[in-house]
Amino acid sequence: MSLYNLLSRRRMVRDYEDRPLERDKLERVLAAALRGPSAGNSQGISLVVVQKPENRRAVAELAGESDWVSRGYPAWLSLAPVHLILCAEPQVYWDRYSLPDKDAAEKNWPVPYWHVDAGCMLMILLLAALEEGLAAGFQGIHNLPGLAEHLGIPPNVEPIGLLTLGYSRSTRKGHSANRPARSQRIHLEQW
Ligand SMILES: Cc1cc2nc3c(=O)[nH]c(=O)nc-3n(C[C@H](O)[C@H](O)[C@H](O)COP(=O)(O)O)c2cc1C
Repeated sequence: MSLYNLLSRRRMVRDYEDRPLERDKLERVLAAALRGPSAGNSQGISLVVVQKPENRRAVAELAGESDWVSRGYPAWLSLAPVHLILCAEPQVYWDRYSLPDKDAAEKNWPVPYWHVDAGCMLMILLLAALEEGLAAGFQGIHNLPGLAEHLGIPPNVEPIGLLTLGYSRSTRKGHSANRPARSQRIHLEQW
């Protein structure tokens, strides 16, 4: 499918079929994730791939799924057959930008580059999922108590978000349809 086609179909999916994801599809999506750009070629974003049902349930629980189910919303995290936890390793960027080919001042990042790199990887994952006929959703997770311990994530690694992968059970249109007018977002020559 062409890139523009993929983009027009992309939306966050929060409703998954009870169907496993083929290993070859997952492998291709993971390989694509590693092809993203990276500040200074630091490559400090990693993924934890969670597939065992008991681990997915545990991650969903830590992410507050039972709370929102008790408030009347449907569960979706635990239903997705694959969870990908995007993790950033800031020290990798500090080390990279300490090398002689980088100016020390470059380390005064007003926006941490690991967050930018994580966003790039997220976008690749969302598009690669579509290319494989899959659906994906994203939930921000920052400092979720218990998550790092459960997944063996070291203290110097920041879990950023949880991407769900699977087959969509819904044909509902996403929020993508309700976007501000182009003129509010694209400014020609001046804001
Ligand atoms: C950084 C980021 C954090 C998000 N966090 C959540 C979240 O915690 N829960 C959720 O249901 N959706 C989350 N989303 C999905 C957005 O709600 C969704 O992208 C937005 O509503 C636009 O819908 P669309 O992606 O289907 O076009 C997040 C998206 C991004 C990029």
